[in-house]
Amino acid sequence: MKKLKVAIVGCGRIAVCYEDTFMRFPDIVEPVFAVDKVIDRAKEFADKFPSCRYTDRYDDILKEDIDVVHLCLPHYLHPHMAVKAMRAGIHVITEKPVAVTLQEADLMLRTQQETGVKLGVIFQTRYTKSVAALKSMIERGDFGRILSARSYLTWNRPFNYYDDSDWKGTWDKEGGGVLIDQAIHSIDRVRYLVGSDVAWIDGSIRNYVHGFVKVEDTANAVVKFENGCLYNLYACNTYGLDSPIYIELAGEKGRCGLIHDTGFYEIGDTYEEIRDEYVPAGVGPVYWGSSHYLQLRDFYDSVLNDTPVAVDGLEGRKTLEIIKGIYLSSASGGRVTLPFTDVAYTDINTIK
Ligand SMILES: NC(=O)c1ccc[n+]([C@@H]2O[C@H](COP(=O)([O-])OP(=O)(O)OC[C@H]3O[C@@H](n4cnc5c(N)ncnc54)[C@H](O)[C@@H]3O)[C@@H](O)[C@H]2O)c1
Repeated sequence: MKKLKVAIVGCGRIAVCYEDTFMRFPDIVEPVFAVDKVIDRAKEFADKFPSCRYTDRYDDILKEDIDVVHLCLPHYLHPHMAVKAMRAGIHVITEKPVAVTLQEADLMLRTQQETGVKLGVIFQTRYTKSVAALKSMIERGDFGRILSARSYLTWNRPFNYYDDSDWKGTWDKEGGGVLIDQAIHSIDRVRYLVGSDVAWIDGSIRNYVHGFVKVEDTANAVVKFENGCLYNLYACNTYGLDSPIYIELAGEKGRCGLIHDTGFYEIGDTYEEIRDEYVPAGVGPVYWGSSHYLQLRDFYDSVLNDTPVAVDGLEGRKTLEIIKGIYLSSASGGRVTLPFTDVAYTDINTIK
C-alpha cells in the first residue's frame, strides 16, 4: 500500500495526539514535515521521526511532495492555511473548529470542490464505540422519534489558560470562548446523533468570571432541529474541575446518552451501559478522549481509497453554524432562523 507523506502544522498542545497517531500507523503515514512559527517546537516534533524535516515557514512545504497536511493551529488560521494547501493539491484535515466565520468555512468548502482534494475536520469524540452504538440504535428506531436532547458541560479554564496563550480568549483568533473551544464537541455529537439539520436557535452568552478576557465563559441555548427535536444546551468553563460531559437524547420509546465517553440507554425496564474497549491513547488530558487516531485513520483510508470523508468540511460548518447562531441570537436578543448572515464579534460587552 502507498504510504502517505504527511505534515503537521502547529506543534503545540494538541500535537501529542498526532505524534501518537503517526507512531501507531508507520505503514500508512510517513511524517515528512513539522511546521511551527516557534522553530524549536517544530524541531522537537520532527526529531521523533527519522524522515521528518522542520521549518517555521508554512509556504515552504507547499512545494514539497506531501499528501496530507494536518492543521493544529489557532482557529483563525485554519481557513487561510487550508485553502493554500488545497490549492497546492494537498489533502487537509484541520482541528476543530473548521473556521471562526461561516464565510471562511464556505471559502474552504468552495476550494475543496474546485480542487477535488479531501477536507476533514477533527471531531474525534464521534469516534467511540458508545457513539457508534447509539447512532445505530437511533437510526434503527429503537428509541422511536427523538423528541429532545440536552448537553451539559461544566469545565474549568483558569486564568493561566488564557494568560499563557496569545490567541485564546480573543474573538478574532479563537472566535469565541467556551462554545467554540470546549462545548463544540458536545454540540457536534448531539447534532450527529439527532441526525437532522437545524431550523432555529435561541440562546445567550455571558462572561461571569473571566473578566480578563472578552469572550463568553457561560452559554445556554435552545436549538430546534428540522425533525422537531428540541435541544437544550448549557456550557460553562467556570466550574471547579473538568466534570464529565453529560449528553442525553429522549425518544418516544426510551432515552440514551453519554457521560464522557460511556454510553447508556434505557428502554422500558432495560438499562445498559456501553463502555469503550479501546486502549486509551494515554496522551493529553482525559477530556480530549483517546480517539484522535481513529478519526485520522479513517481520514487516511478516505484519501487512500478515494472515498467520502465522514467528518468533512460541511459537517464542520454545520456544527460551527449552531455556535455562530447562538452568538447572533445573544447579540440580537432573539431567535435566529437558518440560514443567517454570520457576524464577527470583538467584545462580549457588545453582545447583550
Ligand atoms: N480535538 C480536541 O480535543 C482538541 C484539543 C485541544 C486543542 N484542539 C485544537 O487544536 C488546535 C491547536 O490548539 P492547541 O491547544 O494545540 O494550541 P497551541 O497554542 O498550544 O498550539 C498552536 C501552535 O501553532 C503555532 N502557530 C501559531 N501560528 C502559526 C503560524 N502562522 N505558522 C506556524 N505555526 C503557528 C504556535 O506556535 C503553537 O505552537 C486548535 O484548533 C484547538 O481548538 C483540539
